Amino acid sequence: METTEFPKTMHKRLKPNYGIYYLRSYMIMLTCFLALGLGVMVVGREMESTLVIIAGTGVIAYGIATIIGWALARYVIPGSRTEVAQNAIELLALNGSEKVLDAGSGRGIFAIETAKKLSSGSVTAIDLWEPEKVRHIRHQHKFSQPSENTVANALKNARIEGVSEKIDFINMDVNHLDFDPDTFDSAICGFIIGHQGEYSLNTLKEIRRVLKPGGRLLVIDNFRDFTYFLLSTPHLFVLSYLRGTKAKRLALANWKSLVETAGFQILDFKPRRGILTIKAIKHDTKN
Ligand SMILES: C[S@@+](CC[C@H](N)C(=O)[O-])C[C@H]1O[C@@H](n2cnc3c(N)ncnc32)[C@H](O)[C@@H]1O
Repeated sequence: METTEFPKTMHKRLKPNYGIYYLRSYMIMLTCFLALGLGVMVVGREMESTLVIIAGTGVIAYGIATIIGWALARYVIPGSRTEVAQNAIELLALNGSEKVLDAGSGRGIFAIETAKKLSSGSVTAIDLWEPEKVRHIRHQHKFSQPSENTVANALKNARIEGVSEKIDFINMDVNHLDFDPDTFDSAICGFIIGHQGEYSLNTLKEIRRVLKPGGRLLVIDNFRDFTYFLLSTPHLFVLSYLRGTKAKRLALANWKSLVETAGFQILDFKPRRGILTIKAIKHDTKN
């Protein structure tokens, strides 16, 4: 794979793009609700039915409430996504020589911010960017792959940030890691465990397998708090059940027991406005 960096002079102008999750789908929903509401209102006027006009207004109001809920949820999330990643990676206190796994790398935000901290070390970033190229897929959450999360975009971001030489991008299922046991010093799971639904425990156990004894795990994910309710509009529940995706945000107590049951000892547990950061260590006594 081509890993040439962009010339240093271009770094200042180009900015990595890690995407704003869900914005597009929320905009599509808003447009649909506005169109539907207007349509119902027009029909109501033709029928001269106040009730139908009120129904149309209700549909429009619901669409607007959905987008306001999304905007509020984004507003209360602390800092930019890059800041969230940087603060979390800080917890790993890397010395620069580590081998780090970034599980479910997406457009590479955690891999890139980690690579910036490494000298002789390296990052292995995995994702199901091109599932057709992966031999073993145990589980892939249907909606966990926003369409712009491509390996080309991840690589482009790494090149913009001048760290592509330190990152290996590999198509791989996090539930079937093609690495020997005890390979990595640290593993980062940025917004992937919550997407694995009933596979979450297996996912963490698989990551634990490839960590060295005493290896560090960093989980950054959403948990159930008030931001969850801002985003949880009734039609989203209906849609997710229709599509058979029942991924739910875990409550804090469930996160704790999930990580511990997978064989980790929690060293740091920081919930803040919808985002939970957990630092844990591979438990010695359990293999
Ligand atoms: C919400 S995105 C997070 C991406 C990135 N870590 C970030 O924070 O921007 C979740 C990512 O996990 C990946 N993913 C989901 N299931 C996976 C699996 N079974 N194996 C590898 N990657 C997976 C998706 O393709 C997606 O890129």
